Amino acid sequence: MSALPKFMTLERFINEQEMMHPGATGEFSGLLHDLSLAAKLVWREVSKAGLVNILGTTDRMNVSGDVVKKLDEFADETIYKAMDHGGHVCVMASEENEDILQIPDQYTAGKYVLLYDPLDGSSNIDANITIGSIFSVFKRATTTGKGTLQDCLQPGYKQVAAGYIIYGSSTIFVYSTGHGVHGFTLDPSVGEFLLSHEDIRIPVKGKIYSLNEGNFCNWESGMQRYIQYLKEQDKATDRPYSLRYIGTMVGDSHRTLLYGGIFAYPGDKKNPQGKLRLMYECNPMAFIIEQAGGRSSDGTKSVLQVQPASLHQHTPVFLGSTEDVKMCEEFLQGKR
Ligand code: AHG
Ligand code: MN
Ligand code: MN
Repeated sequence: MSALPKFMTLERFINEQEMMHPGATGEFSGLLHDLSLAAKLVWREVSKAGLVNILGTTDRMNVSGDVVKKLDEFADETIYKAMDHGGHVCVMASEENEDILQIPDQYTAGKYVLLYDPLDGSSNIDANITIGSIFSVFKRATTTGKGTLQDCLQPGYKQVAAGYIIYGSSTIFVYSTGHGVHGFTLDPSVGEFLLSHEDIRIPVKGKIYSLNEGNFCNWESGMQRYIQYLKEQDKATDRPYSLRYIGTMVGDSHRTLLYGGIFAYPGDKKNPQGKLRLMYECNPMAFIIEQAGGRSSDGTKSVLQVQPASLHQHTPVFLGSTEDVKMCEEFLQGKR
């Protein structure tokens, strides 16, 4: 017998993790299973993005007679539809919808709350650049019946799971339930996510910074001084840093997770709260980065400590290697 590596599917991994929790009802695992199906359905469509015009579409109708939808609209509906009838969630909310998304009356409301960014980096789709989907899971705050806005507006430290799917040169499902961060690469030929990145740990310090430096003129001086510092030459502190920026938070955070360094979307004079959304982007990514041993910040405290007041609120965000994020905070707080 040749020494084949151990194949661990996402499904089996989730089940084995569940068995480590004797009181588990399976509801949580069921939710993760449904999410992995949603990920495959979105991936299938994303991977055909450039083919829409070739595969016989006329007047925005595809070959099966469905109206062709924008990909982020498609992803939004697909994730909702994959999750609405499993009996695991009591309410959802997505970046694409102003209000909370109720579970249809005919289905059972479960114990969990799902918030998601169906397609992140959507402006990159037409250029065939990495995009992703992001999810955040809470236990419901209310006890019975349909979920409410109150169930959705919980601070990030209460997340029971979070993760993302990156549709890049390969498709990877990365998630954490508070016991480390694990990544599963999709093998399209068998339609399974296979464990490829077990217990990811972010380096303590990196040498890459990732942010939209085009906003430099609008930043506060602490932010400007920090980036200037990273660009200076100094062998002892391994500077200058390299700049890498895709403009897809999933891609930029994934690289930061694996290589270290810092990803940031600071507030600025035009948008004091920055651009990225707390509930759909910053909370789940902060959870992943912190679970991998890194640090998140809104400039003064962990992103996970931000108390949400509304579904679509923004927050400045700094994520990455502990040493890099700490240093950034020192500049922002005028200590350097
Ligand atoms: P979305 O596609 O979900 O609206 O998110 C876009 C976000 C995020 O992915 C990325 O980090 C950021 O926008 C990029 O913004 P800039 O173009 O301002 O750099
Ligand atoms: Mn996004
Ligand atoms: Mn989006």
